[in-house]
Amino acid sequence: MDIRFSTDEKRISWEELARLYELAPLGKRRQPEKLELAFRNSLLKVFVHDGKKLIGAGRALSDGVWRAAIYDVAVLPDYQGKGIGSEIIRRLVEHADVEIITLYAAPGKGPFYERFGFRKMKTAMAIMPNPEERKALGFIE
Ligand SMILES: CC(C)(COP(=O)(O)OP(=O)(O)OC[C@H]1O[C@@H](n2cnc3c(N)ncnc32)[C@H](O)[C@@H]1OP(=O)(O)O)[C@@H](O)C(=O)NCCC(=O)NCCS
Repeated sequence: MDIRFSTDEKRISWEELARLYELAPLGKRRQPEKLELAFRNSLLKVFVHDGKKLIGAGRALSDGVWRAAIYDVAVLPDYQGKGIGSEIIRRLVEHADVEIITLYAAPGKGPFYERFGFRKMKTAMAIMPNPEERKALGFIE
């Protein structure tokens, strides 16, 4: 394995990133052009390659001063459990360098994030599409 972390999106294939999220699996972020826009609009990003193969990614919105929010962290199944997801989070947290960082964990992934100091929020609120579906999936009350 030749694992490399980078923040450079210039050579990213957004189709490959869409496939990564499909295989991880993570959400329904399957439209390459929307992924490209979301990543370009995010101040912080991490891409992980094994040679030329994209095997992990994550991004964060940040105001660079007080607040940041981490999204779309995923690692290809064959590469999970090797510390790559942890390194993506560590890099996003370190580069965010802000007071408060939020994220919403997929159901069951809370313990993974607690390892980095994230705590469950009691007052987090969100507007989400298909709230009944999200409720059934365990995202909201
Ligand atoms: C979640 C994810 C990014 C973690 O990446 P990873 O590279 O497998 O993570 P790591 O290898 O760094 O795991 C670090 C540790 O967290 C643990 N861990 C992983 N998922 C966990 C979970 N759901 N609950 C508790 N611990 C978990 C691992 O067992 C590992 O423990 P160890 O260090 O004692 O061996 C990856 O599993 C993934 O892509 N999952 C599918 C997409 C997804 O759910 N993304 C998160 C959305 S919120």
